[in-house]
Amino acid sequence: MIRLFVGLALPDALCETLAALHAPIPGARWVPRENLHLTLHFIGEVDTHTAADIDIALGHVDATAFTLQVADIGQFASRGRVRALWAGVARNPALERLQARVEGACRRLGHGGDGRRFLPHVSLARCPDLPEMRVAPFFAAHRGFAAAPVEIESFALFSSTLGSGGPLYRVEARYALEGGSARWAERAAEWSRQEGADGDGGR
Ligand code: 2AM
Repeated sequence: MIRLFVGLALPDALCETLAALHAPIPGARWVPRENLHLTLHFIGEVDTHTAADIDIALGHVDATAFTLQVADIGQFASRGRVRALWAGVARNPALERLQARVEGACRRLGHGGDGRRFLPHVSLARCPDLPEMRVAPFFAAHRGFAAAPVEIESFALFSSTLGSGGPLYRVEARYALEGGSARWAERAAEWSRQEGADGDGGR
């Protein structure tokens, strides 16, 4: 059996920005930089045949590359206890479309999830026992947080192995989003046009 989820692997520069938010809050277990990701759909334990079917289905998901901006800090809390601290995402219809298609592909194989509404976020810390009042300074310090936008050109199927040192996530497969490198090519062409124009101006 293998524990799977579908998500976005985040570019290094963004992980660095998010890892820099780590603060010494007693009761918060910070997600190591290499584990930072955005979950699109949690699948859970499946056998290897099902994993192969999921892989094929994800390969047929039709969605386009997009720009992602991680912004704002939030928390999941219940009964005065914070369960997790996370970074949110600026409104993003392309991300929502991708998530709906990934969820649909998994649902057709009987892994549609628990039906909860998708709330895009990057978990920063998990908190086994953290009173809400203890995180107030953290929220105050990062009010208005916004990371630089990044280009998302693929999504991934991750495995998660639970261990005493925390979960180990591994990218099992990557799926390219349509227009990803083309968008970069367009941008590169735009940059070289600008450079040319700047150069001409200097002559
Ligand atoms: P998160 O997205 O809030 O961080 C792997 O466990 C990833 O899948 C984690 O990022 C986790 O939470 C997310 N996830 C979503 N639903 C889950 C569930 N029912 N059990 C475990 N992880 C889940």
